[in-house]
Amino acid sequence: MCGIVGYLGDKDVKNVLIEGLKTLEYRGYDSAGVSIFNAGKIEKVRAAGKLQSLIDKIGSTGFDGSLGIAHTRWATHGKPTERNAHPHTVNKVSLVHNGIIENYMELREELVACGSVMSSDTDTELVAHLISKEVDSGKDLYEAVLEVKKKITGAYAVLVMSEDQPEEIIGFKCGPPLIVGLGEGEVVFASDVQAIAPHTKKVFYLEDEDVVLARKDDLKIFRESKKIDPVWTELDWSKQVAEKSGYEHFMLKEIFEQPRAFAAAIEPHINIERQSVVLKDIDVSLLKDIDRIFIVACGTSYYAGMYGEYVIEKLAGVPVELEIASEFRYKEPFIPSSSLVVVISQSGETADTLAALRLAKEKGAKVLSLCNTKHSTIDREADFKLYMNSGVEVGVASTKAFISSLGVMTLLATQLSKVHDRVPKEDEQSIVRSLLGLPSVMESVLAYDKFFAKAADDLKKFKGFLYMGRGTNYPIALEGALKMKELAYKHAEGYAAGEMKHGPLALIDEEILIFMLCPQDHLYEKTLSNLEEAKARGGYIVSVGTKGDEQLKSLSEHFLALPKGDFITNPILETIPVQLVSYHVAKALGCDVDQPRNLAKSVTVE
Ligand code: AGP
Repeated sequence: MCGIVGYLGDKDVKNVLIEGLKTLEYRGYDSAGVSIFNAGKIEKVRAAGKLQSLIDKIGSTGFDGSLGIAHTRWATHGKPTERNAHPHTVNKVSLVHNGIIENYMELREELVACGSVMSSDTDTELVAHLISKEVDSGKDLYEAVLEVKKKITGAYAVLVMSEDQPEEIIGFKCGPPLIVGLGEGEVVFASDVQAIAPHTKKVFYLEDEDVVLARKDDLKIFRESKKIDPVWTELDWSKQVAEKSGYEHFMLKEIFEQPRAFAAAIEPHINIERQSVVLKDIDVSLLKDIDRIFIVACGTSYYAGMYGEYVIEKLAGVPVELEIASEFRYKEPFIPSSSLVVVISQSGETADTLAALRLAKEKGAKVLSLCNTKHSTIDREADFKLYMNSGVEVGVASTKAFISSLGVMTLLATQLSKVHDRVPKEDEQSIVRSLLGLPSVMESVLAYDKFFAKAADDLKKFKGFLYMGRGTNYPIALEGALKMKELAYKHAEGYAAGEMKHGPLALIDEEILIFMLCPQDHLYEKTLSNLEEAKARGGYIVSVGTKGDEQLKSLSEHFLALPKGDFITNPILETIPVQLVSYHVAKALGCDVDQPRNLAKSVTVE
């Protein structure tokens, strides 16, 4: 959370920083600010609210300096006000920070006791005070940073500059990502390569405890205070631009990109001629020795993991334990070394998932990651890697990365089933055929966009939304409810339909909309009975089922038909209507679809 950018070079610093922040706004958007040298002094401009407020405030202000730092914030300590916005400046030192300083209370007490006056409620300002004190005592900025790093604990990626050294920026990190790009006579720092790629493709991903001292024509990287020769990565980044391409919102664009994203996720692992699955870059012999799998993730990625749990157990017969990353890391899990830990993360930076990965490695297990963002921390640290291949996802609500994850989970399950001699060849071929056919079916399901655009004005009046499904449809019910909560701020629950009678049925009245996932699969009759129970209590039914199902249609106020599928394909197709309903209800309610309140896309704090 929070995005930081720094620039040194001959381009217009203000423009580079603002353009960089635009690409990072997904990381937080409750305030923003810049510090840029002007006439030898650091000039700071900050504004509460979205980046546009900062852009309006800066207006045509000119800066003559050749370096600056910038920040877009997701509040942790202190309200989202201008006073708490970054950069924080103390005397000659100005800095931006992504993360949390954990010993914040103790440091604050010490500083206040020594006479420091706080001008914000943030943990970040304390770091500025500490560095400023060291600089005032005669240290240069680099030495000051080394001193302060000994005093702070927690998670941080920091960029700092000082009026005493107007030609340099120092970056250091422990936890959240920080990348430095080296161009011709210019250096760009950022939390994400998207802000760097327009300037240079040569980047270095800082490791924890690295310190970078950057001047326009000189860049030094120190690890444990020793200068290192960095291994530069050449970005394979053909301007994956964050543009809406005519769509009203990124989220809608990303929903419509799903057929392509799904195809891009599965195709690298499919041998079209043989119609077989070969997971690239994974040691298949390793999978043979695996007798237990843990799937660990957060939010939408966790629900993709739940789908994976069902499909792996059914196809491969390998026991799977599904874990929420923030719970897993603290429950002292028993992880035999013969287990495979699968971590799923679109951003590849989620702090809890990363901590789970590290814990699993400590315990001797092998870790397989499924990320969308290549070179992200999780991607770099995993033993084996798979990719969602969805392209940049900008909308804070994850869509295409989810659907790609479902595809990759199915391939993993199929590959596991092969090494465990479970799936006959013909079945593998039929799985491959149906996966390859899904993108074009998805295109037709996207036509429900028009239905929800029209229905949204009626649907938005409901007090609450209950999503129900059984088997592999259940994770989609949970994902549907999460989408409705995060986008439309409506109370929504996802339930295993068979569990309704154990309590949640009491919630149902005429003000509750039931979104029923009821395809004609082996659980169809049972799910239908659950639907009857809900309808009998007054619920308003919107159902998603199999084309031609007159019975389901007669029980529903709205019936959305999908082509006949199975436990693998039904959930993938159902994902589209559950996304569209939330998108359109949120839009009809006037909510900010791409940047819902209180959220950020990359959650790099605990
Ligand atoms: C999804 O719509 C969310 N905004 C959120 O739940 C997200 O899936 C979660 O934070 C995990 O992110 P990750 O996949 O980047 O790890």
